[in-house]
Amino acid sequence: MIGVFDSGIGGLTAVKALEKAIPDCDIIYFGDTARVPYGTRSREVIDRYALQDCRFLISRNVNAILVACGTVSSNSLPLLKNSFDVPIVGVVEAASRRAYETASAGNGVVAVLGTSATVKSGAYEKEILKYGGDVKIISRACPLLVPLVENGRVSPGDKLASIAVGEYLEDIIPQKPAAVILGCTHYPLLTELFSELLPHSCLINSAEEAANSLCVLIKQKRLDAGNGGNRTFYVTDDPQFFARNGRAYLGKDISDRVFKINIE
Ligand code: DGL
Repeated sequence: MIGVFDSGIGGLTAVKALEKAIPDCDIIYFGDTARVPYGTRSREVIDRYALQDCRFLISRNVNAILVACGTVSSNSLPLLKNSFDVPIVGVVEAASRRAYETASAGNGVVAVLGTSATVKSGAYEKEILKYGGDVKIISRACPLLVPLVENGRVSPGDKLASIAVGEYLEDIIPQKPAAVILGCTHYPLLTELFSELLPHSCLINSAEEAANSLCVLIKQKRLDAGNGGNRTFYVTDDPQFFARNGRAYLGKDISDRVFKINIE
């Protein structure tokens, strides 16, 4: 059984990637919808929420955890790894490696898009620079995108989303970055909009990259990921709201598998 968590709906981008890689695995998803967004909070609060999220998943007997949240991965991953025995994978490492490889094979420019807390942590920059200092990294906090995605404003023609993304990318577009890390797991839901504005860039989906590296780990360590193809979703606020948005993204009805819980 694999545990996946995020502050809200964004982690479903990782669920989708896991489903593709290991269709039969059993997944427990936790979305902290009562406390989203995490990305505008202090590290102390993000640490506290992250510990509670992991404790909840571990209480459900998961054998591995995918931290499908760029904010938690950037700020709290070392704390989580030191606090629990199960293997825990975040979204920063694999995406950073892909970005470095892509940028150094191209014009050497990487853009990192994430929440305020992710950008403030500098985690993506640190990870990318481990591979070499020959790239230029532009980091941009995009705090309005998580609330837009949580409210289902993801269609390419959505006026508000277009204005917000356009403004965040205004000075990045002319630099034609070879690689753009969608460093918040909510952002891949806006992929069409990003692709329109950055037609020459390789968009790196941090959730997908992390899901793929978790699959490698599962095989290497022979972890039991389950084989029933079961999906259960726990949220801390309105389950039907989550199910409606989740359906639009996962392409299937999950309303009978979403449950509300309190983890505090
Ligand atoms: N999906 C989370 C992330 O990847 C959203 C953070 C938030 O709740 O602000 O950062």
